[in-house]
Amino acid sequence: MTTSSTAVPSHAPGTTAVAAARATGLSKVYGSGETRVVALDNVSVDFHAGRFTAIMGPSGSGKSTLMHCMAGLDSFSSG
Ligand SMILES: Nc1ncnc2c1ncn2[C@@H]1O[C@H](COP(=O)(O)OP(=O)(O)OP(=O)(O)O)[C@@H](O)[C@H]1O
Ligand SMILES: [Mg+2]
Repeated sequence: MTTSSTAVPSHAPGTTAVAAARATGLSKVYGSGETRVVALDNVSVDFHAGRFTAIMGPSGSGKSTLMHCMAGLDSFSSG
């Protein structure tokens, strides 16, 4: 999974230096034992104010899990 961010062209709030949301060493593990799945493994990312950010990766790479955790819609394991 990778992220890429693009400046918003006009009158966007904030600057590229301001992180609107940040994850530091974010990990999310579903299940335990035989069904244990590490969906996020030590992810660190800034989402900057005034920029569009794309999250890209194959199915199952953790895009939705990252969004859910950063939006506070799901709990995380560490970070
Ligand atoms: N509720 C859950 N319980 C157990 N495992 C889960 C759960 N939700 C997601 N997973 C697992 O976590 C990993 C990441 O899933 P996630 O849905 O975040 O991927 P994704 O990048 O959004 O995939 P897609 O492109 O298909 O939407 C996958 O291995 C998935 O099977
Ligand atoms: Mg998804």
